[in-house]
Amino acid sequence: MRTAPPPLVLLLLVHGLASAASAAFTCNATGVAATCRALVGFKPAQNTTYGAIASLFQVSNATLFGANGLFLSTPADGAVAAGSTVRVPTPCRCANGTGRSDRTPFYTVQDGDVGLYNITVARFSNLTTYQDIGAANQLPDVNKIQVGQSLWIPLPCSCDDVDGAEVVHLAHVVAPGSSVEGIATEFGTDASTLLRLNGMTDPKALQAYQVLDVPLHACSSSIANNSLDYGLRLANGSYATTANGCITCSCSATTYRLDCHQSVGQSQCPAAATCPGNLFIGNTSTSGCEVQTCSYAGYTNTSTPTGTNISATITTDRTNCGNNGGSPPGSDGGLGLRGFMWSAAFVFLHMIWLSSLQ
Ligand SMILES: *[C@@H]1O[C@H](CO)[C@@H](O)[C@H](O)[C@H]1NC(C)=O
Ligand SMILES: *[C@@H]1O[C@H](CO)[C@@H](O)[C@H](O)[C@H]1NC(C)=O
Ligand SMILES: *[C@@H]1O[C@H](CO)[C@@H](O)[C@H](O)[C@H]1NC(C)=O
Ligand SMILES: *[C@@H]1O[C@H](CO)[C@@H](O)[C@H](O)[C@H]1NC(C)=O
Ligand SMILES: *[C@@H]1O[C@H](CO)[C@@H](O)[C@H](O)[C@H]1NC(C)=O
Ligand SMILES: *[C@@H]1O[C@H](CO)[C@@H](O)[C@H](O)[C@H]1NC(C)=O
Ligand SMILES: *[C@@H]1O[C@H](CO)[C@@H](O)[C@H](O)[C@H]1NC(C)=O
Ligand SMILES: *[C@@H]1O[C@H](CO)[C@@H](O)[C@H](O)[C@H]1NC(C)=O
Ligand SMILES: *[C@@H]1O[C@H](CO)[C@@H](O)[C@H](O)[C@H]1NC(C)=O
Ligand SMILES: *[C@@H]1O[C@H](CO)[C@@H](O)[C@H](O)[C@H]1NC(C)=O
Ligand SMILES: *[C@@H]1O[C@H](CO)[C@@H](O)[C@H](O)[C@H]1NC(C)=O
Repeated sequence: MRTAPPPLVLLLLVHGLASAASAAFTCNATGVAATCRALVGFKPAQNTTYGAIASLFQVSNATLFGANGLFLSTPADGAVAAGSTVRVPTPCRCANGTGRSDRTPFYTVQDGDVGLYNITVARFSNLTTYQDIGAANQLPDVNKIQVGQSLWIPLPCSCDDVDGAEVVHLAHVVAPGSSVEGIATEFGTDASTLLRLNGMTDPKALQAYQVLDVPLHACSSSIANNSLDYGLRLANGSYATTANGCITCSCSATTYRLDCHQSVGQSQCPAAATCPGNLFIGNTSTSGCEVQTCSYAGYTNTSTPTGTNISATITTDRTNCGNNGGSPPGSDGGLGLRGFMWSAAFVFLHMIWLSSLQ
């Protein structure tokens, strides 16, 4: 709703330009797997706050805190120092072999933004390129932008599994002086995976400020493929609310299983989702070496004003039933299950229709 300002035409600074033409990541996923939640590693160029970062990327403060494993009580005006890294979740959509943030965030050109290149550097810490912004917004001339103009900032992302495993793709801007090996170690992956994912063959070809697709080990979930949050993926140490805020899930490296329960203090939510045996989502019951969990299985919107249809499923963890080292004596139950693998046996699927009539 802006009134047409005098068309102040800004010029793109191409002087000293070293950034790659495109920061796109490969994403071949199709169908329901073509959308997911990904991450970008934002490094503010100036001192800022969590609230300012949340509004720049158009996510809620709580979403930002969750992605960084910060308490919900963290003040939104809490300082974030220039150069520190904050993980920002972004909804990813894949098409034609690449992934981009799904028409978000939008940025309004401000006085003092010298051009698209300046915006990518000074506002978005090189997470995208001026060419990508130009193409995404179908700008006839990337040298001409106007104060007040609204631009979609396409952020690189992917939803592809890596070597058959669910991962969270992190867009990581390479700091000067880092190596592929060092980055792999920092993020718990290996150099060959990083090179392959980024279409590189020579680790020495790594460039400062290049955006690297880094796969983070994700917690596996029981979310069904017809759920609105299919593709919700969380990395170690993070949490998120889903199902219209009614479910909170977290991911810890101890199990790498998504751990979900009903959110507290949400008045608009259905009272209780249960599995048979009077288990609520997040409850577990142990029988011998088996641990059964009432796991969150997804949600759909219903037509009722506050309607959320949340489903749950029983999952069975037999990690402790193996006969490899460390299992308790007499716990192997004779089922011939082999060690270490976590095996999810879907005993049954129990749908709970919750239409929030209380
Ligand atoms: C994605 O598709 C392209 C073209 O079909 C192919 O070259 C590439 O290997 C695929 N990548 C993955 C990770 O499957
Ligand atoms: C984040 O918190 C700040 C300060 O409390 C508030 O002004 C801002 O609107 C919040 N941002 C979002 C996206 O909710
Ligand atoms: C940014 O914050 C740091 C402390 O985190 C402070 O030392 C520095 O002076 C601040 N810089 C500016 C330009 O405000
Ligand atoms: C994908 O490519 C097709 C044909 O090349 C094109 O029509 C379509 O708009 C592209 N989709 C996106 C999201 O870029
Ligand atoms: C971008 O513009 C700001 C002023 O708005 C300036 O401080 C900064 O140095 C510029 N950055 C580049 C890379 O041109
Ligand atoms: C972005 O890249 C430019 C060089 O293209 C560099 O000067 C600047 O420090 C980089 N900023 C960040 C936050 O990576
Ligand atoms: C969704 O999951 C069901 C099994 O739960 C499977 O039969 C179906 O093929 C899946 N659909 C897609 C589009 O992946
Ligand atoms: C998981 O996160 C915790 C804290 O967030 C950290 O101490 C631990 O090293 C991480 N583990 C892995 C495997 O990344
Ligand atoms: C089962 O879940 C409910 C709801 O999240 C919780 O209040 C209760 O403490 C849990 N019970 C057990 C035994 O974990
Ligand atoms: C589901 O309903 C919530 C409001 O309860 C709304 O914010 C959200 O956009 C809806 N999602 C879809 C996919 O319709
Ligand atoms: C809840 O979802 C299931 C399918 O997942 C559907 O069959 C059922 O009608 C839904 N209930 C409501 C109240 O919308």
